[in-house]
Amino acid sequence: MARITAGIASSHVPAIGAAFDQGRTQEPYWKPVFDGFEWVKEFQRREDPDVVILCYNDHASAMMLDVVPTFALGCAEEFAPADEGWGARPVPMVMGDPVLAGHLAEQLVIDEFDMTLMNHLDVDHGLTVPLSLMFGKVEQWPVRVVPLAVNVTQFPTPSAERCWQLGAAIADAVQAYPAGLNVQIWGTGGMSHQLQGARAGFINQAADRAWLDGIAANPEPYRAMSREDYVEQFGSEGAELIMWLVMRAAMNEQVNLIHKHYHAPASMTGAGMVVLENAA
Ligand code: DHB
Ligand code: FE
Repeated sequence: MARITAGIASSHVPAIGAAFDQGRTQEPYWKPVFDGFEWVKEFQRREDPDVVILCYNDHASAMMLDVVPTFALGCAEEFAPADEGWGARPVPMVMGDPVLAGHLAEQLVIDEFDMTLMNHLDVDHGLTVPLSLMFGKVEQWPVRVVPLAVNVTQFPTPSAERCWQLGAAIADAVQAYPAGLNVQIWGTGGMSHQLQGARAGFINQAADRAWLDGIAANPEPYRAMSREDYVEQFGSEGAELIMWLVMRAAMNEQVNLIHKHYHAPASMTGAGMVVLENAA
């Protein structure tokens, strides 16, 4: 049987990808950000997962305003890094798992989540920057990836509670998958930031730190927050944090927070991450 063995969440900042690609990780500005991911790279070498269900958001890279899927599941054999305006990142092709994706599609639709199935999907910084942070510079990614893109760019976006329910349904679907896979679930986005409008530059470090402390042991308040609450506390783009709830809900009620890191600012964002394991 397939098993979800870890839940990981992190920010996904394009400038972190650029610093990584240009070999600037040891510069004073970036070093504290990248140092925070040394632990998880070692963790991944030990854990050696087979596949990551990677919940992120597209930033109008693959899905423009002509089609706005609320929940889009990547079912293709492979996913190319997207050109976000300055050429595709020089990172490996992302290999999919169409058999697991097909199973998830079936189970989630039976569970009344009306998924959009993506048989072609270029993946942007929301997916590739966390891969670089968790695995470093590699010739090939050491895992297969099933992308799950959540719409957080165009209202109406799904509620926090809906994301939570989706995560719980993913956990059920993985448990019903017969192959003996080591599966991780990731959520990327946030932390607090606002890239636009009167509050452009807004970062709420206190709210970020409270989130990192609460997401493992006490996620209920975040599940109950409205879209407006997210924008108010975390900024308009900080609302990307709802992807962390998909990850959290796919884990058991009781989890161990085995690693966390926070550094702000990183570009316009509080850069944070957590690694969770199910409690025995
Ligand atoms: C930034 C952060 C993001 O999550 C994003 O998608 C784009 C930009 C930033 O902080 O620059
Ligand atoms: Fe983003």
